[in-house]
Amino acid sequence: MTFLKSPTVAATAVTCPGLGYLATRAPSVDTPEFAFGEEANVNRRILITYATRAGSTAEVAAAIGETLSARGYVVDVKPVKQKPDLTGYAAIVMGSAIRMGNWLPEAVDFVKRNQSALNQVPVALFTVHMLNIGDDETSRTARLAYLNAVRPLLNNAEEVYFEGKMDFSRLSFLDRMIARMVGAVEADRRDWDRIRGWVPAALG
Ligand SMILES: Cc1cc2nc3c(=O)[nH]c(=O)nc-3n(C[C@H](O)[C@H](O)[C@H](O)COP(=O)(O)O)c2cc1C
Repeated sequence: MTFLKSPTVAATAVTCPGLGYLATRAPSVDTPEFAFGEEANVNRRILITYATRAGSTAEVAAAIGETLSARGYVVDVKPVKQKPDLTGYAAIVMGSAIRMGNWLPEAVDFVKRNQSALNQVPVALFTVHMLNIGDDETSRTARLAYLNAVRPLLNNAEEVYFEGKMDFSRLSFLDRMIARMVGAVEADRRDWDRIRGWVPAALG
């Protein structure tokens, strides 16, 4: 199964602008913000920023926040769309869902716009996706390619990949059609023990 853009569906959406708008309008999704802990020494403050379309990456970000908070860090969890200020954090954890083989555009843009600030602190990246989950070489290569747009911009950022969730009720009509056409099934494959057990090496 592969998520390639469907020329027929995309062409229909483009040639009928009103229809295109309706087809791409997704149900509203929560992009919550959390703060774990209070004022602390800058060495203990961590920002977790995330990009989501259907909400599952936001829930993963919140779980990582809880883990780091339990380790004594003061953690802010914020959506990338809020363009969080990176000043005052000892480390940044950034995550995105995958769509069509890439991190979401707002997450890639955030890295581009904040490249120099990001390269002054340890950065760890988490990716939430459904395909290419095996340990074989083909899967691994395809999985690593999800970060091709951001990896070259960062100095040795740690990377982790988590299986995500496919929930058709949270997709736009167009995305739901694409998902059905490629044979995607609804499933929540998030491994919460693995997610909650992840601590970026720089913070371990
Ligand atoms: C239209 C569409 C395209 C997707 N493309 C990919 C993909 O190329 N590779 C992949 O591993 N997962 C792909 N996924 C799966 C999502 O990355 C996965 O469902 C993820 O948990 C979504 O995160 P979110 O709920 O935060 O948006 C796709 C999902 C949709 C709906």
